[in-house]
Amino acid sequence: MNFDAINSAQLPALLCAMPKTELHIHIEGSLEPELIFALAKRNQVRLNYATVEELRSAYAFTDLQSFLDIYYAGASVLQHPQDFYDMAWAYFLRAKADNVVHAEIFFDPQTHTERKVSMRTVVTGLHHACTDAKEKLGISSSLILCFLRHLSEESAFETLEQAIPFKDMFIGVGLDSSERGHPPEKFERVFKRAHQLGLKAVAHAGEEGPPAYIWSALDVLKAERIDHGVQAIHDEVLMQRLAMERVPLTVCPLSNLKLCVFPNLKDHNLAQMLSQGLCVMINSDDPAYFGGYMNENFLQTFAALNLNASHAYQLACNSFEAAFVDEAQKLAWRVQLDACFQQHGA
Ligand code: ADE
Ligand code: ZN
Repeated sequence: MNFDAINSAQLPALLCAMPKTELHIHIEGSLEPELIFALAKRNQVRLNYATVEELRSAYAFTDLQSFLDIYYAGASVLQHPQDFYDMAWAYFLRAKADNVVHAEIFFDPQTHTERKVSMRTVVTGLHHACTDAKEKLGISSSLILCFLRHLSEESAFETLEQAIPFKDMFIGVGLDSSERGHPPEKFERVFKRAHQLGLKAVAHAGEEGPPAYIWSALDVLKAERIDHGVQAIHDEVLMQRLAMERVPLTVCPLSNLKLCVFPNLKDHNLAQMLSQGLCVMINSDDPAYFGGYMNENFLQTFAALNLNASHAYQLACNSFEAAFVDEAQKLAWRVQLDACFQQHGA
């Protein structure tokens, strides 16, 4: 592949056109203000904001917790399977426009079951949208059930048990919400049970929290991917391990910018991690809140960090490598990627 043949003027079109997977998207974080208002009206839920503009103007975050408070409030409009379907379908349309070929989607059941919305409502609504996305848009997907780490181990256990009847509709478990003060060890026994059930495991670690949380996500929770993981940069031994074992880090640049993990996109360490041989890729996290879906993340990150076509190719390949699919599927995406690069002059 002749990457040098693609100049910086041609790069944006290639970034948008190339096939990619998305492995770090919270479906509740794809809920746009317009849909929040439409669902609030449909379900007669009172919001603390008078207009879409007023809600959107509240999206000025100082850290993870300041975002989570507003994110959980937004999710309160979701009540029926159709609401979950509509939210996920809207995401899939955005993903299609960005040439996402496959998505592994987080959902937070406790945000809903705590409000007396049943696990069945949540999972069946989302799963129906996944089925339609494959049939109507050609996007494959799977669901990953996340435990909210600010809640108790007992609540996580209860959530996992409630989900067992729907085990065929999700592929794994994850760990999200407020990181600091809630180390992975808190959920060791829940993840053990999830492994026994044949589920895959991922975990948010090293978004705001220390490298020690990445070590324990790997060694205690046996996580196969680390969500974010950008704080690994402060631990040289950990960096070597991540590179050697090709542990995927699902990095989310615009999220990190909006939650002040980095003061400026130019300060993001994605390029440094890529150059040290880590399996990093670009994801959107909570695109409705952070100013962009996949292609917007690619475009802004490439501009800020001066990345080139060779970086784009590596990031796309990493996104295939890290997906929970078989090798034949990964190879098929690679063929698609090569064809796309050739069409763009490589
Ligand atoms: N839930 C939704 N987005 C999250 C993030 N960026 N970190 C932790 N929990 C989340
Ligand atoms: Zn996340």
